[in-house]
Amino acid sequence: MTQVQLKNLSKVFSGAPAVDAINLDVACGEFLVLLGPSGCGKTTSLRMVCGLEQPTSGSIWFNGQDVTNLPVQKRKVGLVSQRFGLFPHMTVEQNVAFGLSVRGMPAEEQMRQVGEMLEIVRLSAFAKRFPSQLSGGQMQRVAIARTLVTKPEVLLLDEPMASLDTLLRSEMRQFIRDLHDEYGMTTLLVTHDQIEAMDLADRIAVMFDGKVAQLAAPDEIYQRPANEQTARFMGHSNIFVCTRTSEQHIDSPYGPLSLGEASATVQ
Ligand SMILES: Nc1ncnc2c1ncn2[C@@H]1O[C@H](COP(=O)(O)OP(=O)(O)OP(=O)(O)O)[C@@H](O)[C@H]1O
Ligand SMILES: [Mg+2]
Repeated sequence: MTQVQLKNLSKVFSGAPAVDAINLDVACGEFLVLLGPSGCGKTTSLRMVCGLEQPTSGSIWFNGQDVTNLPVQKRKVGLVSQRFGLFPHMTVEQNVAFGLSVRGMPAEEQMRQVGEMLEIVRLSAFAKRFPSQLSGGQMQRVAIARTLVTKPEVLLLDEPMASLDTLLRSEMRQFIRDLHDEYGMTTLLVTHDQIEAMDLADRIAVMFDGKVAQLAAPDEIYQRPANEQTARFMGHSNIFVCTRTSEQHIDSPYGPLSLGEASATVQ
């Protein structure tokens, strides 16, 4: 199991910060979800953890070891990318077998594990097809199968369910969570879907404009959003303007209220 740490991690593209000094400490075996609107830096963060994107500044640590300059193949990570990245000239089963064959696994064992994985993602009947002969959702499942079959220690999933229908999405969600619970790999999943994040995460990092606005358990984020932007993004409708009358009290449209424990978080 691997602890993943992002320390002051930044990425600047042509002068514009895509990821702006984020700090994250992902515990061994934790399921952490990066949640935020389009363009907030989720994919860029994930690609830096994977080793596909070099940070502009800051560092990435696995189990207390600085891996910032370690190439992808030495990181024991598996990435399911937002754009699938399937090999067009290989069949479904060859795509799924790829990671096993580069590790030198005997062909017979490769085929056994690939067969098992294709059954799990319900694509056994499509084993001999090429990616161009699949629907978007089917391609997505091949991409998931191809990564999971290698049993990575750190699993990185970039919107892995974006093009699945509602039923398949909830089945796939359950499948990913079960797999995580069974193998215990540290998992970072990117999504802009609040329900998916609430459903899957041990903790959620809410991101806006390249920064982490809040890092907490789903309930905590839902019950106590750190700021208005997070509250709105989480779909709260009970936002209203109040006036603070003292350290412990506010005037609300529904009358005076005592803040109690919430006092510290009122801005
Ligand atoms: N290779 C690149 N060159 C220049 N700008 C880039 C590059 N990759 C990403 N960006 C920019 O960095 C910002 C963050 O992009 P990123 O792909 O990380 O967002 P995201 O949160 O994954 O969004 P989405 O939910 O739409 O996938 C965006 O403004 C994007 O345009
Ligand atoms: Mg993205």
